[in-house]
Parts: sequence; structure tokens; C-alpha cells
Amino acid sequence: MNYEETDKEYYESKWRFIGEWEKQKAPYFKKKPGIEGLLALELIKSRINSGRLLDVGCGGGRNTILFASNGFEAYGVDFSKSAVRLAKMLGRENNSSAKFSVQSVFDLRFENDFFDVVTDFGLFHHLRKRDVSNYLKRVSRMLNKKGYLILYTFSDKSKKTGNYKPFSKRNWSSRAGVYNHYYSKEEISKIFSKKFKIVKSRLIKEENRKLAFNLSLMRKY
Ligand SMILES: C[S@@+](CC[C@H](N)C(=O)[O-])C[C@H]1O[C@@H](n2cnc3c(N)ncnc32)[C@H](O)[C@@H]1O
Repeated sequence: MNYEETDKEYYESKWRFIGEWEKQKAPYFKKKPGIEGLLALELIKSRINSGRLLDVGCGGGRNTILFASNGFEAYGVDFSKSAVRLAKMLGRENNSSAKFSVQSVFDLRFENDFFDVVTDFGLFHHLRKRDVSNYLKRVSRMLNKKGYLILYTFSDKSKKTGNYKPFSKRNWSSRAGVYNHYYSKEEISKIFSKKFKIVKSRLIKEENRKLAFNLSLMRKY
């Protein structure tokens, strides 16, 4: 079994709850958009007000729905069937125009150049190093010329204690077979500058938690 399948099994088991959102602990098991979604919306709105947007690893769809209610033709994809089922339910509850489908970021079924914006809230930082260049290729292919990428990843400024196993020297941790990488701004810049110009980036620290995140807005060359 390769790593993507291991992750998929893990996420499938996490998302397989039937609508009991309030019983789930992780911050992304929420119906309301996260602070990262709201900040990302503000960032993109300072550049464009509408367009096609793809939310990769959309989970239960909270952030996709936020963009759909704010002028974007929003599409959410996730490789977990259960996540997409919940996202569709949440979409219906919100009378949202967001469209959801089961797709892996490595096997996207949209035409090239179809999107003006791609958002990734919490998928990229789970990828193994060997999958990073493939991810970059797939995501950038979805975007039209000068399209935007919004990326939200764990930051190396996170505290090295807490719920997670201690970081290794290279800022990796793992739990239940899922890997996390805590990215420095320099690493993000090094990886993405092959295809993107970093327009803005900011550090976000979660209240009452030990984690910190990088939120980056990038533009395709
Ligand atoms: C940390 S959750 C974030 C969910 C959502 N973006 C949010 O903020 O509410 C990461 C999501 O990425 C999805 N995911 C991980 N690897 C993926 C892949 N290769 N293709 C599509 N989705 C993936 C998982 O199923 C999970 O729902």
C-alpha cells in the first residue's frame, strides 16, 4: 500500500461520522469557516472579486462554501468519499452553489487552466517529500495564466510539544500513519518559486493551541 492510500484510509475513518460535527476534536471538523478561510478570502478579494476556485482537500466543505457565498464559482474536491458526502450535506444546509466531488489532488479531472484560484487549507503539509513536485505540477496545471494559489500549512514556528509526537530534526511528525511537515517560509518559497511568485505570506498562531501556520498567497508565472 502506498502512502496516499494509507492517508486515505485514515481520513476516510475520520470523516465517516454522520453529521456529529460537535463531537469531533480537530479544528477542521467544523461547519463554520476557519480563520484561515476568512483571511484567505480577504487576501484574494484584494486582488479579484470573482472567478472559478478549486479547494483541494476540502474536507467537510466549510471554506469552499465560504468562497461560494462570496462571489466565486467554487469547487471542492477531497479523496475521502465520506468528507465529500458531508460537504454536500453542508452545502445543502447553506443553500450553497459550491460543487463537491471525490477526487485526489494527484488525479484531478478538470481541464487544464480551468481555475482562477486554487486553495489548499491543510492538505499540502501532509504530503511526503517525494510527492511534492507532482503536487506542484498538478495544481499549477489547473490554474490559468496568472492564477492564484492560496496555501495554508503547518509552520516550523509551532511549539514542539503538545498532542503531536515530537518533531524530528527536519520538522516532521507523524500520528496514526499520517505525516505532518512543519514548513519554514524559506522552504515554501524554495518549492513554489519554480512556478509561482509569492505575493504575500503571514504567520497565524492558533489561540490556545501550540500550532502555528503559514498562509501564503502566490501567483502563477
Ligand atoms: C486537515 S484536513 C482539512 C480539510 C479542509 N480543507 C478544512 O480546512 O476544513 C485535510 C483534508 O485533505 C484531504 N486530503 C489529503 N490528501 C488528499 C489528496 N491526495 N487528495 C485529495 N484530498 C486529500 C483529507 O481527506 C482531508 O479532508
